Amino acid sequence: MRINKYIAHAGVASRRKAEELIKAGLVTINGTVVRELATTVKAGDKVEVEGTPIYNEEKVYYLLYKPKGVISSVSDDKGRKTVLDLLPQVKERIYPVGRLDWDTSGVLILTNDGDFTDKMIHPRNEIDKVYLARVKGIATKENLRPLTRGVVIDGKKTKPARYHIIKVEPDKNRSVVELTIHEGRNHQVKKMFESCGLLVDKLSRTQFGTLDLTGLRPGEARRLNKKEISQLYNAAMTKSK
Ligand code: URA
Repeated sequence: MRINKYIAHAGVASRRKAEELIKAGLVTINGTVVRELATTVKAGDKVEVEGTPIYNEEKVYYLLYKPKGVISSVSDDKGRKTVLDLLPQVKERIYPVGRLDWDTSGVLILTNDGDFTDKMIHPRNEIDKVYLARVKGIATKENLRPLTRGVVIDGKKTKPARYHIIKVEPDKNRSVVELTIHEGRNHQVKKMFESCGLLVDKLSRTQFGTLDLTGLRPGEARRLNKKEISQLYNAAMTKSK
């Protein structure tokens, strides 16, 4: 198996990230640094990434209803609660597929499958990520229309998104809007609304591809079954060109 695929399979990093690690000279096979992406790993080879041995393990997939107030990392140097603290003892080295902000709740997948992760997060595969946002101000078709064509955030235009105004509460000067996007840029939803003059004050991801939060309470997690995993794969395959 090629070295970048081996690293992705081991759940250490996505395939693209693995390529970066290799090019940076951080990967060794049997003690020798490898920089060639075409290098293959044979049975019995000892692969290390930044000096840590890696092993291929069974692929596992969890769905977590992330509550507010936890960070989407596997560890935190400030000792804050992470999403891993919410999962039962998992022996595999899982990590979140993309991130949700500290104050965002909702659907978060965790896995040790780097290829799966790449497929889920690449915008080309057009996996729907559906968010429910409560915003300060009155949402109208006029102020939200730019979202359907794309808005510039951090100097780059977002891909066209879909929105649906769920409710407008003029007395409280706030609105609830559902937004569907295919990307996962930093604070993307908050920034998209901000570009329309609306400040997000509550955010939840209600859907990720074919998955939603049915049956889970905030902080609860469950294993995904084979059917759910293949439905996610299929969703990515049908859209990818
Ligand atoms: N967009 C955001 O702004 N925050 C999230 O947590 C997810 C998407």
